[in-house]
Amino acid sequence: MRKILISGASRGIGKAIALKLIKEDHYLSLGVRKKDDLFDTPLDPKANNSEKFLVHTYDATDQKTSKQWVERTFETFKNIDTIIHCAGIFKRTNLIFNDNEMLDIENLWKVNVMGPWILTKDAWKYLTLSDSARIIVLVSMSGKRSKGNLASYSMSKFALMSLCQTMRNEGWEKGIRVTAICPGWVNTDMAKEINHFPKKDMTQTNDIASICSNLLNLPNSSVPFEIALNCQLETTL
Ligand SMILES: NC(=O)c1ccc[n+]([C@@H]2O[C@H](COP(=O)([O-])OP(=O)(O)OC[C@H]3O[C@@H](n4cnc5c(N)ncnc54)[C@H](OP(=O)(O)O)[C@@H]3O)[C@@H](O)[C@H]2O)c1
Repeated sequence: MRKILISGASRGIGKAIALKLIKEDHYLSLGVRKKDDLFDTPLDPKANNSEKFLVHTYDATDQKTSKQWVERTFETFKNIDTIIHCAGIFKRTNLIFNDNEMLDIENLWKVNVMGPWILTKDAWKYLTLSDSARIIVLVSMSGKRSKGNLASYSMSKFALMSLCQTMRNEGWEKGIRVTAICPGWVNTDMAKEINHFPKKDMTQTNDIASICSNLLNLPNSSVPFEIALNCQLETTL
């Protein structure tokens, strides 16, 4: 059984992954901004007092919450061998943006890039204790190609993809394997304003949860570095 940190587990992809992995008996430590979001769900900390389940406050814009979450998880589980990075934000920003959009760009950078970087850094020494640690990162097709007026989101996801490559390189000899999952649209709150094709034709969160579950069962020699998930035809990829 793995001892797993999942960021962004309050909603969307992170929550679907947590719901799948809790059934598979892994140790789960969920990082969320508001624990109330999980009340009355199978991930409710009040209903789950098993020593294999933890919910901790985590805000990607507040560096100290990352360290506190990691340290509390290590104290409780005595190890951490997996991180699944799902926390992320989306914003449309044109190349020629307005002055009042600078804060949006800074927030995208903080949450989508520095968040996963700092969380990985804080947990690194524990990941290296295992000879088969895993880091799964929800990147995006926007980390592989730039499309539409997504200058800042795409910039953050390209940077995140670069970070994934560095994690892979620096973790390889220590048995750490990294997978960057790169979906197009996924049917979550993040895609709620997308109306040009039906939500049912988007990638579904449960399918990403199944992919994560399968990834965790693969040996070091067979972990894919990148998984691109197309829900629409992308002729160049
Ligand atoms: N949906 C898509 O179409 C799509 C496609 C490609 C890639 N992705 C990526 O997949 C990841 C998950 O997206 P999603 O679709 O599940 O989005 P979502 O439903 O909007 O959920 C986003 C999650 O990130 C958390 N989060 C946001 N800001 C945070 C912060 N400052 N600190 C900690 N957590 C924070 C949210 O917590 P709160 O509930 O507290 O806000 C929520 O749990 C993101 O990285 C996203 O970029 C999504």
